[in-house]
Amino acid sequence: MKKPVHDLLDKNMRLPIICAPMFLVSSPNLVINACKNGIVGSFPAFNTRTQTALDEWLTTITEALKNEKQKDPTAKVAPFAVNLVVHASNKRLQADFEVVKKHKVPFVITSQGNPQSIVDAVHKWGGIVFHDVITVAHARKAIDAGADGLILVAAGAGGHAGEVNPFALVREVREFWQGPLVLAGAINDGYGVRAAEVLGANYSYMGTRFIATTEAEVDPDYKTMLVDADLNDLVFTDTFTGVKCHFLKPSITRAGVDLSLIEGKAHVDLDLGGSNAWKDMWSAGHGVSGIHSVVPVAHLIEQLASEYNNASQLQAFSSASSHTPQVGR
Ligand SMILES: Cc1cc2nc3c(=O)[nH]c(=O)nc-3n(C[C@H](O)[C@H](O)[C@H](O)COP(=O)(O)O)c2cc1C
Repeated sequence: MKKPVHDLLDKNMRLPIICAPMFLVSSPNLVINACKNGIVGSFPAFNTRTQTALDEWLTTITEALKNEKQKDPTAKVAPFAVNLVVHASNKRLQADFEVVKKHKVPFVITSQGNPQSIVDAVHKWGGIVFHDVITVAHARKAIDAGADGLILVAAGAGGHAGEVNPFALVREVREFWQGPLVLAGAINDGYGVRAAEVLGANYSYMGTRFIATTEAEVDPDYKTMLVDADLNDLVFTDTFTGVKCHFLKPSITRAGVDLSLIEGKAHVDLDLGGSNAWKDMWSAGHGVSGIHSVVPVAHLIEQLASEYNNASQLQAFSSASSHTPQVGR
């Protein structure tokens, strides 16, 4: 029997935030530190090369969170999630799913394709499934497939972003879906998390901001680039992956690819000279301008909590000055 989402998530969360799954970024260390500090941590199954490695990651994460809870039974230790691509093109799905099933992973995030068979199976061990969508049509399909929650990936998100404005996307989906809703796309601080709730989302999905943390196991230059970047440093292109995605321009140049062949152009077929998207060309969402330092996850969550509490106290009709939150650098 599946648990009510509230029992699994809210009761064990300090803030309504999911540290989003990120290819080549999310690691057990990042996941454990997110969960230990009261937000959901997640990773794509693709970040492990084999099912043996997936099994090891799941054992490491489960043990660490169990120990954390034993140390302090009153602590809010959030559950973790595994992201599975459920599209027919994912030849690993069945084998990865067997490992996920063995560990009775509490929270599965599905993307692309139809999650129905996964939903039914995950419910059998009491887990929940949220499906990640970029359009209203996909949201309706995910509901028909029995997803417990929807993740709306709006315009401006890191990774494969949607192209719909978050205000429009949340409000339209809320016309027909009263269940759990997560909003993604350039949510970078506690003010954004609170704003997403006011708009009608229950949780915020944050990716890019968590790349600039001590625990993210990426090239240190990627983190520095995020600290230095603003909106002007992003290009939205399907040239590297076939799907529209924001990439950091300096990472493209660093990888030896001529940016002028891509910028402002529709899809171009390029010889990338051995460079790869994600590994050499790095993605980030529109929230980059708000990243000013690389900090440990615990510190970031502390900062998010303080901003979220400030935002929650802002009065709708208070003086103009309180409408301009001073976000510390
Ligand atoms: C480097 C990077 C890799 C990503 N990889 C994945 C992935 O493997 N699976 C997935 O569902 N989403 C992936 N995403 C998207 C995130 O899960 C999330 O939707 C997005 O980061 C939210 O937007 P934000 O980065 O503006 O916070 C990735 C995002 C980034 C930045």
